[in-house]
Amino acid sequence: MSSTDSARVRATLRRLYRDVDGFEIAEREERRVERVKSSPTYGEIMPAATVQLIDALELQRKDVFVDLGSGVGKVVVAAALRSGVGRAVGVELARDRHQRAVGVVSRGEAEGLWRPGVVELRNEDVLRTALHDATVLYTCSTAFPYAFTERLARRVQGLGRVVRFITLQELDSDVPGFALDSVLRLDMTWARKRKVHVYSVSP
Ligand SMILES: C[S@@+](CC[C@H](N)C(=O)[O-])C[C@H]1O[C@@H](n2cnc3c(N)ncnc32)[C@H](O)[C@@H]1O
Repeated sequence: MSSTDSARVRATLRRLYRDVDGFEIAEREERRVERVKSSPTYGEIMPAATVQLIDALELQRKDVFVDLGSGVGKVVVAAALRSGVGRAVGVELARDRHQRAVGVVSRGEAEGLWRPGVVELRNEDVLRTALHDATVLYTCSTAFPYAFTERLARRVQGLGRVVRFITLQELDSDVPGFALDSVLRLDMTWARKRKVHVYSVSP
């Protein structure tokens, strides 16, 4: 069910996530995220805004979309439901959130909601996960320390390919290789119309 109409995608997301969110996690999982100098603070992009984001990105079969800090996997699930993306990869370090995402994705696959294998979930650190084939990278980075976001951005730039990097935190102008293409205004669980920065990254 790719390229499904917006209302159906939102209804499917609501149904799949009726009893699932990433707000409460075990303290040891919070510590796991803090140990890599990131933040375990949780929030999500709202369902309608998720569809707006996926539409704005115009993901194609050739694309590998990666959500860096994917929580319970809503954005990658939306990409699989709504676009013709080749692969949608969610990378999440907090095991509780990752496992909840695995549960939702297993149900979606069992229902045949997207092509098998389109969604991949990894319980890994975004600074270490393999990104060699990523083409479009999204991070809901508001709560990340800026130094962490900048390390992530430098890692993306170091891929040595033209890719797109979408981040809630704006990058300082001294990060080389990033050109701001557009700024979306999307609703999040903690605030409406947050700026979402879409960069083209070149080596
Ligand atoms: C604000 S939430 C975003 C959830 C999801 N992307 C969404 O928009 O619905 C950020 C997530 O990043 C995760 N995270 C933080 N640092 C991370 C790291 N170094 N590696 C992987 N995940 C990380 C947190 O555990 C949290 O679940």
